[in-house]
Amino acid sequence: MSASGSSAVADEIESLRVQLREHNYRYYVLDEPSIPDATYDRLMRELQALEAAHPELVTEDSPSRRVGAEPLTEFKQVRHELPMLSLDNAFSAEEMLEFDKRIRQRLKRDEEIEYACEPKLDGIAVSLLYRDGVLERGATRGDGRTGEDITHNIRTVQSIPLKLMGEGHPALLEVRGEVYLPRDGFEAMNEQARVDGGKLFVNPRNAAAGTLRQLDPKIAASRPLQMCCYSVGVVEGVPAALSWPDRQSDILTQLQQWGLRINSESDVVEGVAGCDAYYEHLAGKRDALTYDIDGIVFKVNDIVLQQELGFVSRAPRWAIARKFPAQEESTRLLDVEFQVGRTGAITPVARLEPVFVGGVTVSNATLHNRDEIERLGVKKGDTVIVRRAGDVIPQVVSVIESKRPKTASAIRFPSRCPVCDSPVERIEGEAVVRCTGGLVCQAQRKQSLKHFASRRAMDIEGLGDKLVDQLVDEGLVENAADLYALTVEQLAGLERMAEKSAQNLVDALSTSKRTSLARFIFALGIREVGEATALNLANHFGDLAPIIEASEEKLLAVDDVGPVVADHIRQFLDAEQNLAVIDALLKAGVEWEKVEVADAGELPLAGQTWVVTGTLEATSRDGAKAALQQLGAKVAGSVSKKTSCVVAGPGAGSKLTKAQELGVEVIDEESFLALLEQHGVSP
Ligand code: IVH
Repeated sequence: MSASGSSAVADEIESLRVQLREHNYRYYVLDEPSIPDATYDRLMRELQALEAAHPELVTEDSPSRRVGAEPLTEFKQVRHELPMLSLDNAFSAEEMLEFDKRIRQRLKRDEEIEYACEPKLDGIAVSLLYRDGVLERGATRGDGRTGEDITHNIRTVQSIPLKLMGEGHPALLEVRGEVYLPRDGFEAMNEQARVDGGKLFVNPRNAAAGTLRQLDPKIAASRPLQMCCYSVGVVEGVPAALSWPDRQSDILTQLQQWGLRINSESDVVEGVAGCDAYYEHLAGKRDALTYDIDGIVFKVNDIVLQQELGFVSRAPRWAIARKFPAQEESTRLLDVEFQVGRTGAITPVARLEPVFVGGVTVSNATLHNRDEIERLGVKKGDTVIVRRAGDVIPQVVSVIESKRPKTASAIRFPSRCPVCDSPVERIEGEAVVRCTGGLVCQAQRKQSLKHFASRRAMDIEGLGDKLVDQLVDEGLVENAADLYALTVEQLAGLERMAEKSAQNLVDALSTSKRTSLARFIFALGIREVGEATALNLANHFGDLAPIIEASEEKLLAVDDVGPVVADHIRQFLDAEQNLAVIDALLKAGVEWEKVEVADAGELPLAGQTWVVTGTLEATSRDGAKAALQQLGAKVAGSVSKKTSCVVAGPGAGSKLTKAQELGVEVIDEESFLALLEQHGVSP
């Protein structure tokens, strides 16, 4: 080939690399893809083809070279020239005050300090070394002085550029940050492991660590690892034209300009009051984040002040991690009880030696089901790790086998219902074991009554769990309709029940009779029919009678109702005793207003399926969904060939890409609102 021919190829290759880097950056760092996946794949294939035909033009920083060919046989050690430090912790606002006071005393300053605030990601600390803008090495923190060379795995992380973008790169730049697995990636990974019969990971952090510790980079490449950068280490040979930033927040901005991912929640505040406000703000948002954090890192923003403050042993004086209250603790499993739920599901509940975790004392935790007990390999007497996340029921996540006492005994799952002694059954393909006693079983009866009376169902004020237990135990009530026959005398005769509260309850029962169709359907406690499905049923059919009559096929036409739910509804409404209770409830005076049902055929979006993704500004996603349903559209959770249109707000990710790939129409919030207005619907 002629010299000019080969230089034309070189230009072509370079142009493809530049384009691919840019798209990678938009997709993985900014979360703002600008081309469909298919186009990206085509560019990548073109590059790969050219590189295969011209191996002499292949370079290690090419976007085609993320996964090296061969697994390593061992890890090399890496010495960190500047040690990777740890952080001191604070657990309260008082400790934050002390931190701020120490700093101001040391700096002899009265004015407020400016702090950079960053979420403390719960992942693995890594160091990236860029030489002349090209990624040369990735390493774990290890003990802070010596880590492991994990370049082969680091190269597979799509948000880590193999070559920095922009210009002005120092000759040597060490970037530090956290590699982690977002929650959905973690779930997907465990789901895959479940399918493959592989080992499940306990939490995203362990999964990320386990992935980085693999010798074969193909494993890391198959898992959605992310990286967020939070500081720099060694920096040498800064070009004269670049003025190196002198604030932590500006360093992050500079890193982002070079194509590295930083946390979008990062912020700068004034003084300790600003730190507290930021902490509260993020603590409130924590459960809604797409990744796990275990606290907030506060750093003196001014680098000159940082240098003045320096370090004590292994942690800087100028930074602190304010941790959220611990969410995992170890304690002893004293016993296991089996609870029977409303639908007969038998749940093993661990009775624990009380332990303080996530801000509350926990003495019970769920063990979910029989499979989970087997998976954990847990025995009575074991020391276990208990986790409490947000408002979720505490759960046992693992067993510390080294602490197992000789007296530990196996947990036997009952073959008969612990409450009514009916045999238990397990439907194939389901994890749950159920009592077959139905409403013969007192536990099921009590639970369904509690559900019936609950706030979001019939909202019977004053009819709490304890009272339901009492009423059933005393034989005063068997089913929901019996509640409405209760008299003040009967109630006043109960233990701990005064005449006044008896009267109040009878009044509350009477008030509860006027309800809505949706609440009534929800209150019936049909399996898998939650509030949303109940509302959809009500809006679709308008009244109860047509639902009782509806064939499975007609039920399937309702939003969110699939074959399983339709089957549960039919089974419930085909059972004589359930119809008898419904009848008795109506005779007792339970009533609602019929819901007006529009003839779906006449609605503007009838027969269409829409998807809403990203964040909307003028309305919530639920609001958008309700508006679409009002116009007759079915709203789905994922994009397919059958999707009619996608409403995409900022931050839309894979659903948007999929829509573009399939050529499905996509509109932004503005056009969506215009459409609603046109049809006289408000979001
Ligand atoms: S700064 C000298 N910033 O927390 C400062 N660390 O206990 C050292 N971490 O191992 C780190 N998010 O992996 C810093 N925004 C953040 C962080 C962060 C998470 C981790 C880091 C380190 C540990 C410190």
